[in-house]
Amino acid sequence: MTKMNRQWLLKRRPLGDIKAGDLELVETPIPKPGSGQFLARTVYLSLDPTNRIWMSDMEQYMPPVQIHDVMRGGTLSVVEESNNPGFQKGDIVSGVVGWQEYAVLDGGQKLARNGAPLTAYMSVLGMTGATAYFGLLDIGKPVAGETVVVSAAAGAVGSIVGQIAKLKGCRVVGIAGSDEKCRHVVKDFGFDACINYKKENVAAALKRECPNGIDVDFENAGGTIMEAVMDNLNMKARIVLCGMISGYNAEGPIPGPRNFANILMKRARVEGFIIIDYFPRLHEFYRDMAPWVAEGKIKYDVHVVKGIDQALFALNLLFVGGNTGKLLLQMSEEP
Ligand SMILES: NC(=O)c1ccc[n+]([C@@H]2O[C@H](COP(=O)([O-])OP(=O)(O)OC[C@H]3O[C@@H](n4cnc5c(N)ncnc54)[C@H](OP(=O)(O)O)[C@@H]3O)[C@@H](O)[C@H]2O)c1
Repeated sequence: MTKMNRQWLLKRRPLGDIKAGDLELVETPIPKPGSGQFLARTVYLSLDPTNRIWMSDMEQYMPPVQIHDVMRGGTLSVVEESNNPGFQKGDIVSGVVGWQEYAVLDGGQKLARNGAPLTAYMSVLGMTGATAYFGLLDIGKPVAGETVVVSAAAGAVGSIVGQIAKLKGCRVVGIAGSDEKCRHVVKDFGFDACINYKKENVAAALKRECPNGIDVDFENAGGTIMEAVMDNLNMKARIVLCGMISGYNAEGPIPGPRNFANILMKRARVEGFIIIDYFPRLHEFYRDMAPWVAEGKIKYDVHVVKGIDQALFALNLLFVGGNTGKLLLQMSEEP
């Protein structure tokens, strides 16, 4: 039987949680590369909270995925067949091939491996690592001795933020959704403390764990967690607005923080950012992060789910806290 290319197409814009039927898994013939092109087989697909945003037609930083189009997603692929002199069979290419097993490409970013596992390039040495690095250092600007709070602390971005803040000499308090995640970030990633937001009153726990107040909030969650942080800000605090995952599946408008006036009272700054704006500066990130990882100063988790048919199940893990570290879908074997 001829091998086919499986693809997930967006069929309708999800309302609330992503449901079966919002996307459809279809089979098409594997495309043939033309002159100057190559056939790329997807090995890893990055599953990210922002995938839910791309499925919607809310105000966003890229055009939403169009209905009937292949779902967008960051990928690591291997070249299978090439008519492009710049790409040889076996080369690894990072790109945005989307939720499909094969694609024909004209070019791409060839990966110069330096010995790290391929999954590192999809996590700590990839976009989520860069998000942690630039968000914390460029916007949060932590100073040794300050207190940094990070939500979704056991996740892909949050776990790296906390470790960079420790390297910079800060007190780091995480917020995560289980005792096990909290134990993990304290014991294995060196956070000073971690609050299980599903068990404790977060504002009260932050008062206990941040006796000198909060100088930098690396905000991944939004909603009531962000409000609790905003109740404990120091003067001139910085809120690095990286994500607001608590609202991505919301149906209808989301209430604003009830205590937004605290920004005024504490002369604080809230700044949103999107990692794509930092692409011209990625060399700064590799310069620092590659040695930190190689020397074991920054550790990372990857949570790998196998099989393209598992994509929807896997993506939903992000919204129920089912992942620890960077969530990846493995579509085929590593070369
Ligand atoms: N600005 C950018 O350029 C950029 C780039 C990448 C990511 N982001 C943002 O960064 C954040 C983290 O992304 P990630 O890729 O690193 O994902 P992640 O943290 O690995 O996974 C998402 C985590 O969010 C937590 N979560 C889910 N629903 C929540 C809720 N209602 N309240 C509080 N926490 C909740 C869950 O952990 P718990 O078990 O702890 O609840 C889940 O494991 C997201 O908001 C994402 O949109 C932004």
